[in-house]
Amino acid sequence: MVAETDLKVDDLIFPLFLKEGKGIREKIEFMPGVFRLSEDQLVKEVEQCLELGINTFAVFPCIADNLKDATASEGINPEGLYPRTIEAVKSRLPEAVLLTDVAMDPYSSDGHDGLVVNGEIRNDETLEILAKMALVQAQAGTDIIGPSDMMDGRVGVIREHLDDHGFQHVSIMSYTAKYASVFYGPFRDALDSEPKHGDKKTYQMDPRNRREAVVEASLDVEEGADFLMVKPALAYLDVINQLSTNFMLPIAAYNVSGEYAMIKAADQKGWLDGPSAMVETLTAIKRAGADIILTYFAREYAELIRS
Ligand code: PBG
Repeated sequence: MVAETDLKVDDLIFPLFLKEGKGIREKIEFMPGVFRLSEDQLVKEVEQCLELGINTFAVFPCIADNLKDATASEGINPEGLYPRTIEAVKSRLPEAVLLTDVAMDPYSSDGHDGLVVNGEIRNDETLEILAKMALVQAQAGTDIIGPSDMMDGRVGVIREHLDDHGFQHVSIMSYTAKYASVFYGPFRDALDSEPKHGDKKTYQMDPRNRREAVVEASLDVEEGADFLMVKPALAYLDVINQLSTNFMLPIAAYNVSGEYAMIKAADQKGWLDGPSAMVETLTAIKRAGADIILTYFAREYAELIRS
């Protein structure tokens, strides 16, 4: 009766990795229990998760190397793996809510979220590409656009482009305070999207800064974001708390790949009780002020609750 925090299965968003092919369920080395799935397997996974009470899925595409180029052109190909799969999921399981990723890195031969010219990230030239990507995903039937790129001004440009094409009903979950973090390592391995040169510190945030997150959030609100996200979650609980007290939009937190890997590794070694660590971690993220949590633990948590 006096417990202040109630972690519900439908607070969770389940990230899934997508790969071209059929019948594929490929293990990801640094993320035990997470797989790269082909479209048919992904639809099956979504169907089973809906049964368990998980409603929302963040899908990330794993793109073959030969389709990657400097302008991430595969990201705006309406016949590409990603829009085809969005369409397949939404036509077979319309009740599943899809959050789709807008950023250049899965399709970029440079492995960066923005356009690289002479070794520099070109913020403003990237915006046009991101807006086109968002439109292709909206046309395929996505529900929520998730710009994970951290270019300045992209929420406004995406919002305007979607509205101009009749997609006012597609919402935007902005990766508002996304830090330049070592905890993304296993994810980059899963997508093979490690930057080919340099790092992401010119566009992702400095882990030493908290007030800057408030500036980023104010800009996103002004530009039309519907949700604000903090990422990673665990080392940034103060930032989650600050945004949830300062802003009235729903706050999401991304419990990222490295945070998942740490618990799984300790569990496998017998150094920690994995399921208890999972529950405590997710509860703490919610307690800090997150309304929504993106986590690779979503299915495991839902199964634990069910049992
Ligand atoms: C890139 C992107 C990243 C993640 C989601 N989208 C990695 C990065 O910025 O390099 C990380 C998610 C995770 O680690 O679980 N647009």
